[in-house]
Amino acid sequence: MTYRRITLPLFLVQEQRRLGGSGVFTALMTDICTTCKTISNEVNRGAMAGTMGYAGSRNVQGEEQKELDVLANDIFLYMTDQSGNWAGVASEELEDAYISRGSDGRYLLLFDPLDGSSNIGVNVAVGSIFSILRLPEGADPADERVYLQPGVRQVAAGYTIYGASTMLVLTSGQGVNGFTLDRNIGVFVLTHPNMQIPEDTGEYAINASRERHWPAPIHRYVRECVAGLDGPRGRSFNTRWIASMVAEVHRILMRGGVFMYPVDRDNAPRGGHLRLLYEANPMAFIVEQAGGRAISGHERILDIVPERLHQRTGVILGSRNEVERIGRYYAEAEPEKLPVA
Ligand code: F6P
Repeated sequence: MTYRRITLPLFLVQEQRRLGGSGVFTALMTDICTTCKTISNEVNRGAMAGTMGYAGSRNVQGEEQKELDVLANDIFLYMTDQSGNWAGVASEELEDAYISRGSDGRYLLLFDPLDGSSNIGVNVAVGSIFSILRLPEGADPADERVYLQPGVRQVAAGYTIYGASTMLVLTSGQGVNGFTLDRNIGVFVLTHPNMQIPEDTGEYAINASRERHWPAPIHRYVRECVAGLDGPRGRSFNTRWIASMVAEVHRILMRGGVFMYPVDRDNAPRGGHLRLLYEANPMAFIVEQAGGRAISGHERILDIVPERLHQRTGVILGSRNEVERIGRYYAEAEPEKLPVA
């Protein structure tokens, strides 16, 4: 045989055989895969789809929704509702968790249907992020508390990046694999098996316009990087900021780097900027599975016990040695000078 391509459906079936699964996970992933391919198609049509503008509404976080945000959320809800595989879903765009009608599913899906949506309309990469949790035995999926599980309990997590090519990156706790959408056959193909984040890096990503709000450990880290060859690090660093977490994490998976959106003096009253359950947790799971680290500042993100569905957190993730260094800077900082979420 000369044909060597492993498609995502084939990969899932092989994993199912290898791990002796029941096929439920394969069904869940099939839903997500179809959803993301549909969203990819809408994103790819760009202005021709007529969905680049504002929807005239705000989401639960008070952010202005773009038409594509609303459409991507609808596609997720429709697919998961119709398949009957899910006990319930929670979305960045919905105030309350949504219970699938007539479902006997045992899994919960948490998602950000379109992350980085400030990039819609300017043809820069956006993405979808998802996290899968088990519905605890005997629990009621209508009870919001069932979603408040720490990230270490995730069954699987992933994202799809709608970039120059569309890629789906997935972990179920056995490493990280990346699949590229082959538009000719309409299927994701395994192109990046066992993705690993380099331990060291010369790149960091942060929104530098927020410098005046930063906590001391972030000031210290960035100051040292900016000092380059003449500073204590004795080497040069590059800054990158796409304002799309999916694109940022994807770059880090491909070639290393650090992404920082800390709790700062400005966002502390809201608990930070990024959402814990459907942004930070799935990304932290992927990053750790690829050998990197993900912390909120003092804490490992995956250990945070959530109190609210739309809870926010600080996020510092990426190459192991750099994130551990930033963690040490937090440990060495004077606690009373740090912004409290
Ligand atoms: O809301 C999430 C998000 O769009 C991330 O994808 C991105 O990393 C960040 O916010 C961008 O934030 P800012 O608008 O401060 O650049």
